[in-house]
Amino acid sequence: MMNPLPLCVFMLALSGCTTAQEATDIAFLLDGSGSVTPDQFNTMKTFVKNVTSALLEFDTLFAFVQYSTVTTIHVNFTQFNRTGFENQVDDIIQQNGGTNTASGIRTVVEDVFISSAGARPEANRILIVITDGQSNDASLYPTVTALADEKNITRYAIGVGNAFSNPLALAELNSIASSPNSTHVFTVGSFEALDLIATKLETSIIPTADVVVGMRLRVSSTKNLNETEIEEQVLKPFADKLRDQGITVAGIGLRKVYTVET
Ligand SMILES: *[C@@H]1O[C@H](CO)[C@@H](O)[C@H](O)[C@H]1NC(C)=O
Ligand SMILES: *[C@@H]1O[C@H](CO)[C@@H](O)[C@H](O)[C@H]1NC(C)=O
Ligand SMILES: *[C@@H]1O[C@H](CO)[C@@H](O)[C@H](O)[C@H]1NC(C)=O
Ligand SMILES: *[C@@H]1O[C@H](CO)[C@@H](O)[C@H](O)[C@H]1NC(C)=O
Ligand SMILES: *[C@@H]1O[C@H](CO)[C@@H](O)[C@H](O)[C@H]1NC(C)=O
Ligand SMILES: *[C@@H]1O[C@H](CO)[C@@H](O)[C@H](O)[C@H]1NC(C)=O
Ligand SMILES: [Mg+2]
Repeated sequence: MMNPLPLCVFMLALSGCTTAQEATDIAFLLDGSGSVTPDQFNTMKTFVKNVTSALLEFDTLFAFVQYSTVTTIHVNFTQFNRTGFENQVDDIIQQNGGTNTASGIRTVVEDVFISSAGARPEANRILIVITDGQSNDASLYPTVTALADEKNITRYAIGVGNAFSNPLALAELNSIASSPNSTHVFTVGSFEALDLIATKLETSIIPTADVVVGMRLRVSSTKNLNETEIEEQVLKPFADKLRDQGITVAGIGLRKVYTVET
């Protein structure tokens, strides 16, 4: 008969940084079609600068691409300038014209997420599509999203304005985005309201923690739990409790297990 087995479990969450310092390459695809007013286009650019600025402290690279009838790569990952990115975004001039969103996605997948454009082979790949309405080339979504999936490109779709009360427009956002749509689709009523989703988007792209937790749990158990079981039965429920309190848990895991034989 085995005595109760004391286990000391160390957990660590890091403040303001990712648990894994993973490289992340992020491409913004901006709707420059004629349905977007010049003021709205400027607000979109401000949003892009805000999100870029917030994620700059991490191991990130950015690319800025605009689509309308045609797609223009304004800044690829090689060209991205860490200290001068605000000027790079400011320099983007709205094209006007049609809304070929799927073709824009194809260009990003084929011509931006490649090493000759500075994309890093080991990096997580993120595409953020911002649009104000339905596209003119929706039939191409299945093809281009399959191409994106092959390259493991995680896609966020941000729908701005009242167009997305239309189920067809909303369905389009869902076809652009990676699943689940609950975390990859955002809709906001206006370009000004983009600010309201910035933090949620940033945290979703690069999970960060609110607090430093370095703690030691002592678990008495009559069972000899293996590491998987400790993670499932002890750490995950604890992390869920923290999340219920609104605390962002960047990561939680087992550092060390001491088993003491008695
Ligand atoms: C990056 O931007 C800074 C600030 O605008 C500028 O001084 C610098 O020349 C730029 N670097 C390149 C390589 O363009
Ligand atoms: C990315 O930008 C660099 C620097 O301007 C350029 O040499 C390269 O051709 C671009 N890559 C692609 C694939 O467009
Ligand atoms: C995509 O991710 C899968 C699973 O992690 C991996 O096997 C595959 O090599 C990745 N593909 C690319 C193009 O990075
Ligand atoms: C998310 O996707 C599911 C399954 O495809 C769908 O039933 C649901 O309506 C979508 N949610 C929204 C908000 O579009
Ligand atoms: C950008 O950030 C500034 C400063 O935090 C904020 O006032 C503004 O509302 C943001 N704008 C957008 C469009 O995200
Ligand atoms: C841990 O124990 C469970 C349940 O007994 C078992 O299914 C699992 O394979 C074990 N995992 C490891 C890593 O030993
Ligand atoms: Mg349009």
